[in-house]
Amino acid sequence: MTQPGHSKRAGWVVMAAIVLAAAVVLTSGCSSTTQHRWLTFFFDGVSPTNAAPGALAARTANTNTVSGQVRQVAAAPKPPQNIFHPPFIQNQCADCHKSAFSQDLTVQPPKLCFNCHKDFLAGQKVQHQPVAEGECVSCHSPHQSPNQHLLVKKGNALCLTCHDDPLAAGKVKHQAVEAGDCLDCHAPHATNFKGLLKKSVKATCADCHDDIPGKKKFVHQPVGDGECLDCHAPHATKFTGLLKKSVKATCADCHDDIPARNAKDVHQPVGDGDCLACHTPHAADNKNFLKKTAPALCWDCHDNFLAKAKFQHDVVEDCTGCHKPHSAAGNFLLAKDVLKVCGDCHDDKDLKADKGHAGAEGKSCLVCHDPHVGTDANLLKPSAKPK
Ligand code: HEC
Ligand code: HEC
Ligand code: HEC
Ligand code: HEC
Ligand code: HEC
Ligand code: HEC
Ligand code: HEC
Ligand code: HEC
Ligand code: HEC
Ligand code: HEC
Ligand code: HEC
Ligand code: HEC
Ligand code: HEC
Repeated sequence: MTQPGHSKRAGWVVMAAIVLAAAVVLTSGCSSTTQHRWLTFFFDGVSPTNAAPGALAARTANTNTVSGQVRQVAAAPKPPQNIFHPPFIQNQCADCHKSAFSQDLTVQPPKLCFNCHKDFLAGQKVQHQPVAEGECVSCHSPHQSPNQHLLVKKGNALCLTCHDDPLAAGKVKHQAVEAGDCLDCHAPHATNFKGLLKKSVKATCADCHDDIPGKKKFVHQPVGDGECLDCHAPHATKFTGLLKKSVKATCADCHDDIPARNAKDVHQPVGDGDCLACHTPHAADNKNFLKKTAPALCWDCHDNFLAKAKFQHDVVEDCTGCHKPHSAAGNFLLAKDVLKVCGDCHDDKDLKADKGHAGAEGKSCLVCHDPHVGTDANLLKPSAKPK
């Protein structure tokens, strides 16, 4: 943090008044430019020599200078039109200063300012530190400024006098910050929302991303709750998708049991942390926010063995009926031993009664059968076919 300093020059005010009186006498014969240089030496509040004549008239009337001479140079090139604080341009110096000739304030900001302005700090839970500490003049000029709202700098440059550029946090930059205004999301003074936001996080993001989560059947809980910042950075980051961490680490924050820690077999894309190969992060019409349902989902990466099959196992399209999608205790992502997987649906007694099963006892079903497809109705592997 760097704070723009503003000099405290109390102490020499009385002396300044005396010197000023002398200066006015001394410079009454000088050129108007010299005279102006003297005045600005004492008072920052003095308008530029080429400011609007009306303004100068008002100022010079107040400081008892020779207004006629100052007006002579009013034809010089026009600078940006200054905006004046009404009590200043109306010479109500004493509303703020102990007298028209003293820089001492009647009372310090923010109290001073709240004499006339609504106290916008009252009742607000989150107060911008420089505002709460009454440093109004680090952002506003008390007298005049070329900028709207009497600001000392325009736009984001004002904020960046004290804050490090939030876009420096990484190469992936939020377009809303890159192309927009800090004040699109933040309040300058005080609010009731964390992070000095004008609205809740949910409402802030929804201003521009009202399609997230959208009207989907299934909504990921943190997304529905508007906890966008659980996963996203607001300004910039090193990770694609404006994520605070890698996808793998993002999901692991809340789903650290995927893949299961002691699993014997881990599905390769899951081990790689490529959760988004199968899931959408926010919402979907498919349960578990799947991009597609199985088996179509599986064919994104696996050869579609059903396409050319003559005979299919009745239940083969329910891939996750036998395979775990993430990790499993057994080979081939099977939740349990093959004999038990098959035994869930095929009763041992029935099989024993079948004459084709003579000698099959104790053997893995997969010695003779393919679990998915076959060239005959019994899904027999070529080697197991009766000769
Ligand atoms: C709305 C309140 C307000 C009014 C009205 C006002 N001032 Fe100020 N003035 C201030 C504040 C606040 C400062 C302190 C700025 C700082 O701390 O840097 C200041 C500072 C000054 C200074 C010190 C130099 C500078 O600009 O920082 C002078 C000189 C001055 N004012 C003159 C005047 C004169 C002359 C008038 C009347 C024409 C006037 N002011 C009207 C609030 C006011
Ligand atoms: C004597 C009354 C008075 C005091 C004291 C006063 N102001 Fe003002 N101020 C006004 C008036 C009147 C206006 C013009 C009407 C308005 O915009 O509210 C104004 C306008 C402003 C504006 C511009 C508003 C806009 O929308 O462009 C700012 C900024 C401002 N004041 C800041 C301050 C600060 C900072 C202080 C304290 C250092 C202060 N004022 C003290 C009377 C005052
Ligand atoms: C960190 C910078 C900053 C500080 C400190 C600050 N302001 Fe402001 N203020 C702003 C900005 C930026 C705006 C313009 C807001 C906008 O464009 O919507 C503003 C607007 C205003 C306005 C006009 C609009 C309104 O909200 O009514 C007033 C009056 C005002 N400020 C008074 C004050 C007073 C009084 C203080 C000290 C108690 C103060 N400001 C401190 C940045 C600041
Ligand atoms: C005069 C210096 C100064 C200026 C100018 C300034 N800030 Fe700050 N800001 C601070 C300080 C000091 C803090 C408190 C320390 C911190 O959180 O870094 C702060 C805190 C913040 C916070 C965090 C608030 C919180 O409670 O979490 C936000 C957001 C913020 N500023 C935004 C802005 C914006 C937007 C602007 C421009 C309109 C701005 N600041 C201009 C000094 C400044
Ligand atoms: C698209 C909305 C948006 C914009 C634009 C934006 N911010 Fe933020 N900012 C946020 C959000 C959201 C937070 C986090 C608030 C929270 O923690 O709840 C934040 C937090 C901050 C903080 C607190 C510390 C931190 O980094 O978390 C500062 C300081 C800050 N912003 C400054 C700025 C400045 C300066 C700008 C302009 C250059 C800016 N912001 C633009 C949304 C925005
Ligand atoms: C003022 C408008 C605005 C606000 C407010 C806003 N955004 Fe954005 N955001 C954009 C724009 C524009 C883009 C770039 C186009 C796009 O990807 O939709 C963007 C892009 C994004 C991206 C994609 C970034 C990438 O590189 O892939 C994420 C994530 C994002 N915003 C999250 C958020 C979050 C979280 C919030 C609330 C804290 C938020 N946005 C608030 C306008 C906004
Ligand atoms: C559980 C974590 C999580 C939460 C919570 C979350 N997102 Fe995302 N978001 C992601 C991931 C992961 C991506 C994809 C990143 C990628 O493609 O690398 C993403 C992408 C985005 C994108 C760019 C792509 C698109 O879909 O347009 C935007 C914009 C976005 N999120 C906005 C939001 C908003 C707004 C919220 C809050 C309502 C939010 N996100 C909540 C994880 C999350
Ligand atoms: C901030 C915490 C959080 C993060 C980060 C997170 N989730 Fe979730 N997720 C939840 C919560 C809470 C639920 C709902 C609780 C539940 O039903 O188990 C959930 C549910 C899910 C579900 C559906 C479970 C069901 O039973 O409906 C899927 C799928 C899911 N998350 C995937 C992901 C993916 C993929 C990521 C990474 C992009 C991710 N989550 C990141 C908190 C999180
Ligand atoms: C190969 C595709 C695929 C990948 C990659 C994948 N998932 Fe899943 N996930 C699924 C399927 C399919 C389901 C539904 C399982 C069901 O219906 O029984 C699911 C269900 C879930 C669920 C809810 C049920 C449960 O097991 O808790 C969560 C949470 C989840 N996935 C998180 C993740 C996370 C985190 C990652 C990345 C580490 C990830 N998934 C990677 C396919 C995948
Ligand atoms: C994002 C790509 C991808 C998707 C989608 C995908 N897989 Fe895989 N799967 C792989 C990769 C890579 C391997 C490891 C290489 C191989 O054996 O082909 C694998 C291996 C497997 C294995 C063998 C496991 C082992 O450890 O020996 C099974 C079983 C499997 N996948 C089932 C499925 C099912 C069921 C689906 C659909 C729910 C599916 N896969 C979706 C990429 C994917
Ligand atoms: C009835 C249970 C069952 C169903 C349903 C099932 N599988 Fe399998 N799958 C198995 C068994 C058992 C193995 C082990 C085969 C072996 O040892 O040769 C296997 C192996 C695999 C393998 C790795 C070996 C290979 O053949 O490439 C993949 C990939 C696979 N299955 C994908 C799928 C997909 C995709 C689906 C859904 C279309 C599916 N499975 C449906 C039981 C099943
Ligand atoms: C979820 C239930 C289920 C599981 C698990 C299951 N099957 Fe099946 N299987 C069926 C159904 C239903 C049929 C068709 C009706 C029938 O013949 O009983 C069938 C038929 C078969 C057939 C005969 C084909 C036909 O059309 O008659 C074989 C061979 C077969 N299954 C082997 C296996 C093997 C080997 C396993 C273990 C890898 C297994 N099944 C696991 C439900 C299942
Ligand atoms: C030694 C080879 C062999 C083994 C091991 C084997 N089968 Fe078979 N199975 C066959 C043959 C051969 C047929 C055809 C029999 C017929 O024509 O009656 C068959 C037929 C079937 C059928 C369809 C006929 C029926 O009875 O409904 C099912 C279901 C079946 N087997 C399931 C299984 C299961 C489950 C296992 C594992 C527990 C298994 N088989 C182990 C060779 C085997």
